[in-house]
Amino acid sequence: DILDAVIKCKAAVAWAPRKPLVIEEIEVAPPQANEVRIKIVATSVCRSDLYCLLENLADICYPVVFGHEAAGIVESVGPGVTEFQPGDKVIPIFLSQCRECRFCKSPKTNHCENTSALLIREGMPGPPSRLSCKGKKLMLFGGTSTFSEYTVVNQIAVAKIDPAAPLDKVCLLGCGICTGYGAAVNVANVEPDSTCAVFGLGAVGLAAVMGCKAAGAKRIFAVDINPDKFEKAKVFGATDFVNPNDHSKPISQVLAEMTGGGVDYSLECVGNVEIMRSALESCVVGWGVSVIVGWTELKDLATRPVQLMVGRTWKGCLFGGFKSKDGVTQMVKAYLDKKVMVDEFITHNMTLDQINDAIELMKGGKCIRTVLSV
Ligand code: APR
Ligand code: ZN
Repeated sequence: DILDAVIKCKAAVAWAPRKPLVIEEIEVAPPQANEVRIKIVATSVCRSDLYCLLENLADICYPVVFGHEAAGIVESVGPGVTEFQPGDKVIPIFLSQCRECRFCKSPKTNHCENTSALLIREGMPGPPSRLSCKGKKLMLFGGTSTFSEYTVVNQIAVAKIDPAAPLDKVCLLGCGICTGYGAAVNVANVEPDSTCAVFGLGAVGLAAVMGCKAAGAKRIFAVDINPDKFEKAKVFGATDFVNPNDHSKPISQVLAEMTGGGVDYSLECVGNVEIMRSALESCVVGWGVSVIVGWTELKDLATRPVQLMVGRTWKGCLFGGFKSKDGVTQMVKAYLDKKVMVDEFITHNMTLDQINDAIELMKGGKCIRTVLSV
């Protein structure tokens, strides 16, 4: 059967941490039970890919194919897959939604007990990889590995999307935009007429700004040490712009003075524990809510207990609190209905062969998102 064939195709392989990726011919085995083989059409580079490549985290085994923000078309499906057919437009997601575990069944969380990242953390090998190169297995990063012409993903981590969706745009809904937007609307639960502050204006932070605006915030402070980001933040709804480098006082104090005591909601979209602390302390006492959106593995958080005792709430979320499959499908629809912006996040378009250039752009803070056509 032709569908059972191993596919030979191109992928960007990371052979070792901190080294450029190498475009290689890889082999992609057919999907096994409950798996979907996807032809990736577009993928973008997210800060988390870079973070894993540069920090040499224990969870990552080399060689690996990074990439977890992408869109594609189902090529074939394994036994037991009824939700997908060849030709379906899909977005793979690093956070699964199995619909059967205690978390999936609860409206209180978007966590899924069968998520690959969680499996790795608990000492299990994560989902099996169908990707190999020169006789070596390639680790399936995030359960997705999208820096490849083809990948194989468990069906619990694949969202079916509207066939009208342009894949070279909606690929961004596979991670960054849902992460930031959802953090504001689902997790902070930003209220109309409130005051918000977003720390870090990459794609995640800009999406958080867009979420605050959609939720009816009347003032949105955009905070970044790179002033080139402010113009874009305005497009998404930011009303005030603060560069910490322009102030000698702690930024929490600056924001407290500008708002008469602090913001109602703050969102940390950098991935730095010092900024997480200042985001919390920028919130007003009594009811301020601060959400950790950025990611870091290497440092512990700190604040004085009294900062919480006075009535602030400190929260965190993955994938913006969206039940992953449902959320992606909804957000694609919202984009097609012109209720959320996506195109505005794309600053560069390249091909998969140029992935190292895309990585350099992000390292240098020169892009919001680069979409790679695969
Ligand atoms: N204060 C304010 N902003 C800062 C600071 C700082 N001290 N340091 C860096 N920034 C800004 C950068 O200038 C940049 O604009 O944070 C922004 C981060 O954006 P990107 O690097 O483009 O990252 P992004 O893809 O948006 O991801 C942000 O979310 O999902 C996580 O892993 C991801 O932790 C990362 C975060
Ligand atoms: Zn689940």
